[in-house]
Amino acid sequence: VRLIVRDLGASRAFYEGVIGLIVEDADEDHVWLRGLEERQHHSLVLERGEAPCCASIGFRVFGEEDIERAIHWAKTLGLQHSLVQRRYQGRTLFVVDPTGNRLELVSGMEKRDRLLQQYGLYRGVHPQRLDHVNLFAPEVQASLDLYASLGFRLTEYAEEDGPNGRIAAGWMHRKGNVHDIAFTNGTGPRLHHFCYWAPTAMNIIHLCDVMATTGYLTNMERGPGRHGISNAFFLYVRDPDGHRLEIYASDYQTMDPDHEPIRWSLRDPRRQTLWGASAPKSWFEEGSAFLETSQRPASFKADVIVAS
Ligand SMILES: [Fe+2]
Repeated sequence: VRLIVRDLGASRAFYEGVIGLIVEDADEDHVWLRGLEERQHHSLVLERGEAPCCASIGFRVFGEEDIERAIHWAKTLGLQHSLVQRRYQGRTLFVVDPTGNRLELVSGMEKRDRLLQQYGLYRGVHPQRLDHVNLFAPEVQASLDLYASLGFRLTEYAEEDGPNGRIAAGWMHRKGNVHDIAFTNGTGPRLHHFCYWAPTAMNIIHLCDVMATTGYLTNMERGPGRHGISNAFFLYVRDPDGHRLEIYASDYQTMDPDHEPIRWSLRDPRRQTLWGASAPKSWFEEGSAFLETSQRPASFKADVIVAS
């Protein structure tokens, strides 16, 4: 995930000092960070800029031949694309997907020392790895169809009730847990949030205690709680520019191809939070714009439960 941030020092203090990500490299205009389990150079890049936004979301592909296949795909569909130079990364293709999301497909990355058992380095919420991104999509069904064609598999979805119910959100995976990417009905394309995986719910509760007493009280937006969808224990926080970060623990495995996607009614109060607490209005409306990307309103208004 590449984010444009206004105050690099404030953002670094947040992601390194509060959340506990490892700063692998930094220069005057960038900070490269990774989780404790990650052996590649970075999973999050902060870049100094005047207007906070998301420059791109990234996916690792297996190798350079996949980059060639992706170029062929982009040319066939007439998508904006270019090979880009990114420090510490192998061959990287920037491409705007047919729904407007800015993607980077990365064929490899420099490796760094294994930190998983360097317990003296553990800080904050003990973030282990980037788990997923969630995107606002004006046409969720079209986004699900597109990513299904790229090899992502649906695990759960939220739908209107009735015979012609429209899907308002969907969760799709490649790696065998609930999701690598999710789509939420709303003005888009925009980044709704990105998420790091934490070892236990207690790490998340401790983060709440730390944030509440170190000047970050108002950065906590939603939670902690347990999602109905995904079964994960979660907390949503906002960084100094308002970019939304989720911390997430204890979802489940989805490798079995016989698993059928789980349907949730939009009106089921356990969908958002299993214990019934609903999400605030900001959660449904606010997100990070993509760099130089025009937005479209949602094709329909989803009848979701909003906290009053
Ligand atoms: Fe999430």
